[in-house]
Amino acid sequence: MNIAIDGPAGAGKSTVAKRIASTLGITYLDTGAMYRAVALYMLNNDISVLNADAVAKNMANVSIDIRYIDEVQHVFLNGEDVSTQIRQHHVSQAASDVSKHSVVREKMVQLQQSIASNINVIMDGRDIGSVVLPNAEHKFYLTASAEVRAQRRYDELVEKGQHVDYDELLEDIKKRDYNDTHRENSPLIVSQGAIVVDSSDMNVDEVVEFILTKINE
Ligand code: DC
Repeated sequence: MNIAIDGPAGAGKSTVAKRIASTLGITYLDTGAMYRAVALYMLNNDISVLNADAVAKNMANVSIDIRYIDEVQHVFLNGEDVSTQIRQHHVSQAASDVSKHSVVREKMVQLQQSIASNINVIMDGRDIGSVVLPNAEHKFYLTASAEVRAQRRYDELVEKGQHVDYDELLEDIKKRDYNDTHRENSPLIVSQGAIVVDSSDMNVDEVVEFILTKINE
């Protein structure tokens, strides 16, 4: 069984997908981590993520590998575990930018499809229901208002003791939304057959329960 969860940045896709994966005993694959690792490579090597030719030329030097250690996904970039580094703030925007290029998308989609081909998987991303797993048995589009997503991110970072500005977080989210929905290659859309879940007024438990109910129907 394959499950696709798409939606904008900060909608809670990974939290929800992880919970569903453990309830159903299937594998969770965070596809955003792969685009983040590609972005990290470009940043580390001073290659502009906006320069399509430079990105295309350098993709041959990028090897992304997903491994599960104690059931937690780790992403390896050319053999190095970069799972922590890819979560840095500046990598988020770079990932959104680098993911526009078809050469990047083709390589990542191929890898994602090969992982899904022999296991039961719940994948989250932007193009899972539309491109990666168009025949997934279950498709969901998880969203929330930009303000709610920014507030959740704000609360999360404050709890970790970080000083952040809510307005800046909101701007970042809006910018990534625009990027991810307006690009030419596989933009974020509500794929055919996907159930839209607006979690603006729902907590994580409610979203998980709603999705599990739909899967079991
Ligand atoms: O899910 P995330 O925030 O970790 O993703 C980072 C960026 O990667 C996101 O802004 C767009 C891109 N992405 C994509 O284009 N397709 C996916 N399936 C997953 C992520």
